[in-house]
Amino acid sequence: MAQLSLLNISGKDGVRQRLQALRQELHLHAHRYYALDDPILADAEYDRLFQELVALEQQHPELITADSPSQRVGGAPLAQFATVAHSVPMLSLENAFDADDLVDFEERLFRFLQSRAQISYVTEPKLDGLAVELVYEDGLFVLGSTRGDGLVGEEITQNLKTIQTIPLRLLTRDGDGVPRRLEVRGEVFISLAGFKKLNEERGKAGESLFANPRNAAAGSLRQLDPRITATRPLDFYAYGVSDPTPLPCRDQHELLGHLGSLGFKVNPLVHLCQSISEVISQFIRLQDQRPALAYDIDGMVVKVNDFALQERLGAKARSPRWAIAAKFPASQATTRLLAVEFGVGRTGAITPVAILEPVRIGGVTVRRATLHNEDELRRKGLMLGDTVLVQRAGDVIPEVVKPVKENRTGQEQPITMPTTCPECGFSLVRAGQEAITRCPNPNCPAQRVRALIHFTGKSGMDIEGLGKKAVQQLVTQGLIQDIPDIYQLEAESLAALDGWGDKSAENAVRAIEASRTPPLAKFLAALGIRHVGEITAQLLARHFASLARLSLAGEADFLHIEGIGEQAATSLVDYFQDPAVQEMLARLEALGVCVQEEKQDAEADGALAGSVFLFTGGLARLSRHEAKARIKELGGQVASGISRRVTHVVLGDSPGSKLTKARELGLTVITEDEFLRLIDR
Ligand code: IVH
Repeated sequence: MAQLSLLNISGKDGVRQRLQALRQELHLHAHRYYALDDPILADAEYDRLFQELVALEQQHPELITADSPSQRVGGAPLAQFATVAHSVPMLSLENAFDADDLVDFEERLFRFLQSRAQISYVTEPKLDGLAVELVYEDGLFVLGSTRGDGLVGEEITQNLKTIQTIPLRLLTRDGDGVPRRLEVRGEVFISLAGFKKLNEERGKAGESLFANPRNAAAGSLRQLDPRITATRPLDFYAYGVSDPTPLPCRDQHELLGHLGSLGFKVNPLVHLCQSISEVISQFIRLQDQRPALAYDIDGMVVKVNDFALQERLGAKARSPRWAIAAKFPASQATTRLLAVEFGVGRTGAITPVAILEPVRIGGVTVRRATLHNEDELRRKGLMLGDTVLVQRAGDVIPEVVKPVKENRTGQEQPITMPTTCPECGFSLVRAGQEAITRCPNPNCPAQRVRALIHFTGKSGMDIEGLGKKAVQQLVTQGLIQDIPDIYQLEAESLAALDGWGDKSAENAVRAIEASRTPPLAKFLAALGIRHVGEITAQLLARHFASLARLSLAGEADFLHIEGIGEQAATSLVDYFQDPAVQEMLARLEALGVCVQEEKQDAEADGALAGSVFLFTGGLARLSRHEAKARIKELGGQVASGISRRVTHVVLGDSPGSKLTKARELGLTVITEDEFLRLIDR
């Protein structure tokens, strides 16, 4: 057959046409086979068409296109992955653990929306795999990436192309257009059967086994050589897009249908629910279905269906308000508590860690589990030698739930909390209501080392060559004590250390040099200020633009930034008021570390750029939260107190003393209607 059709083709245009027809036909049949599980063509016939395509492309390599089904396994191995910034952050989800949590979720929605009108939801099985983003330009798959930290991921286009259920070109019906750019999100996973077979093969080949399907999927996706990825049984379910505006869909349920018609595989167990009680019934039903599923799920994602509502609800720093992950009860096992170790964290927190008799839970061997803090330890009433119930939920650190008191023999020993720091001997303190005991010694070696490791590490300045081991070595050898010391390191002294050479020393010094002009957000995250992670650091950087401005801010200034809470605000003020911190920052500056200014929110080119709003009294037509979010979107700012900086005072009902002061200062006062017109509602 293949031969016959080859003979029928004459001229380059003929070849091009035949290739196009073959690709289209192969795409359609692959979609029916892989995504719909409903083939209408015999396997042998499909293979013949595929071979014809490959043979024709071999004769005319100049006519090979990126979306050709032959190109799934192409590409040479990479030296390393490039990074990709997501145009819209890939957020994570808050968790609900039972029906009450789901009811609370809906209550929060009602409160935020200031209405108890009925809300519909879409429920989707929460696959335990890896979130990825697929970028399509004019219908062609051009870029694929991992979620990474949510803001920046790794580019894995070639690896994703090897997954048969990821369309290389979006399917369209005749005449239907596709958006210029579409960013599809979903989960890459390996089925239980695929996992079992893969591990059997690895066992036979004497290779190490994967602990669970999730690790197998992660390991397979992060291969530098796409030919290895191509041998792994990876699969993909689409569950969303970064921005639905260019699509003809008003809600999540329509979107999932639309993604299906574009050629994606969409989980058949998604469900449209008209109330939270229907969601809860679906959660129970899914738990029953779970053991019979072909793949691992660790819960059910609940999403507000309507896109307009989703938009009004918006997001917090890490997670959208319109969705939640209802998690299944964790897998548990019992084992023996052998000992308790006390660790010292970067901020001096003393954390008890349970040392356990090794036990298998949910596919992995657990030897250590967190006991969180002293209060938790006391509350649980644990004793050394106890039989304990241990649980693991998803990728959360295993934890000790409780002792099995019935198993006690009388031989168990009480656990004593240390009164002095296990690393530096300082007397430990417990501040006020805090559940955490801390080592107050700012020079505690354990804290210093951890702070330095954090500073140079991936969530900090990411200085290559200064990983955990290297930093520990530099501290032990007395080469560094604090952050500024890093910028005084010389290649010569590094090269003289055990395990270092001229080359690695030079590389490290070069990496240190390159980190002398960090963006503000990166630098802030690297400092390891309590309650200030990467996302909060980004919010701060965008708001304050410069380190100088930020370090002078008061608690109120922090609190009116959307996404920043009280704990972070207090911690920031304490941090920048600490003379030791001020000295450290001055030393860094003297050593030539120059933190880059960030583009400020208000400098963005929004319609409200440069405007600062202050609200007084309640608003009738939208919540303060919504109003603030909309102002931010348009590049404006919101003040929490009256000052000359304020450009518009928005007058609500029963305005307070702010109005009198505003009048005294001669500020512009506008009504809610005028405000709505400004934000175009
Ligand atoms: S929606 C903004 N839908 O769960 C909404 N996530 O913690 C964010 N996941 O990283 C994701 N199945 O890996 C969504 N049907 C589903 C999902 C799902 C699995 C994972 C995903 C994400 C994590 C969120």
